[in-house]
Order: sequence, then C-alpha cells, then structure tokens
Amino acid sequence: MPTIPNYRFDYSIYPNEMPQLDTYNVVDKIYELIVINNYKDLLEIGVGGYGISTRALLEACKKTSGTLISIDCKISSGELFKGNPNWTFVCSDSKTANIKGMYDVVLIDSSHTYEDTEAELEKYVPMLRKGGYLFMHDTNEKPVLVPLIRYKNLNKNLETLFRYPDTNDPSTARMMFLKKI
Ligand SMILES: C[S@@+](CC[C@H](N)C(=O)[O-])C[C@H]1O[C@@H](n2cnc3c(N)ncnc32)[C@H](O)[C@@H]1O
Repeated sequence: MPTIPNYRFDYSIYPNEMPQLDTYNVVDKIYELIVINNYKDLLEIGVGGYGISTRALLEACKKTSGTLISIDCKISSGELFKGNPNWTFVCSDSKTANIKGMYDVVLIDSSHTYEDTEAELEKYVPMLRKGGYLFMHDTNEKPVLVPLIRYKNLNKNLETLFRYPDTNDPSTARMMFLKKI
C-alpha cells in the first residue's frame, strides 16, 4: 500500500466563508481514494463559487500526474484555477457538454434537481471505467438520492462503498461514494 501524504483542507483560503466542517472530511476522503488508486482521469460536474471539490481533485492530480476536466455552466467558475496545467474547464450545461472518453472518477455536484441528476447519471456513469469511483454530493437531498437509487436499481453497475457521514440512512448522507462494477 503506497504511503499517502497527509492531506487536510487549507482552511485559511476561505477567510470570509467557512464551509461546513464535514466538507473538509469529504474532500480529504476524495483525495485519499484517488491517490491510493493512482487514478489519473478525473471528471467533475459542478465547480461552484469556491471550487472546494475541484481543489481536492487538483491536489490529487498533482500527486498522480493526472488531469481533471470540470464542467460548470457558470463562466466565473473557470477563473478559479485558471492556468493550472492539470485542469480543463468546460463551460456548459452538463446535459449538453461535449465530453468524450473514459474516466477513473466522476464527481457530481451540480443543480441537485431530479432532471439534471438523472440526465447526469445516464450520461456520465457509462464514461466511468470499471473499478472507478462515482462521488455523489448532497445525497441527503431527495432530488439527488431518488434518481441515484433508481439508476442503481435499473443498471446494477454501481456499488455503494460508504456514505459520509457514516449512516445506515441514505437520506442523511452528505456524500455517497460508489464504485463502478
Ligand atoms: C453546489 S455548486 C458546486 C460546489 C463544488 N462542487 C464545491 O465543492 O465547491 C453547483 C455548481 O453547479 C453548477 N451547475 C448547476 N447546474 C448545472 C448544469 N446543469 N450544468 C453544469 N453546471 C451546473 C452551478 O453553476 C454551480 O457552480
């Protein structure tokens, strides 16, 4: 098992708005899983205004010499890590984005509507390699959780690894970590 450098989110970069504490544990876990598996081809949907997940993914890319493609319909999200050699920003709606290829990791954290979540699962899970990870944010929200469970039941190609926080009740999990089987 390779040694994983200790990664902890840098609290000081968001002086005016402290994201919830559990956000840090989630990004730590994301980073660790990618580095342990030496995953290199990463795809993210939803960068947001702070790019919390994007930053963790880019830190992991630095370690694995990987690359990250991030999709967001907001052009300003593309400014956050502009110039990072491991990063490609695609300004587009996730449903129509011109994305090809196969990925080791897909992270979904966009509008959290039922329609978008369903379309994103249909479009991007097939681009995940077997053994690759799907990181699904905000699964405590019904419009995210319901299409995810529906997709899992219909396709039987995703296995839940664990939820964060660790809970038996999926409706309370902020993030679900799934594996393509
Ligand atoms: C919750 S934020 C992402 C937060 C980010 N993952 C983080 O950890 O900081 C959601 C982002 O998804 C984008 N978004 C919402 N619907 C989208 C869609 N259909 N296609 C692409 N991006 C979308 C929004 O512009 C917003 O920037």
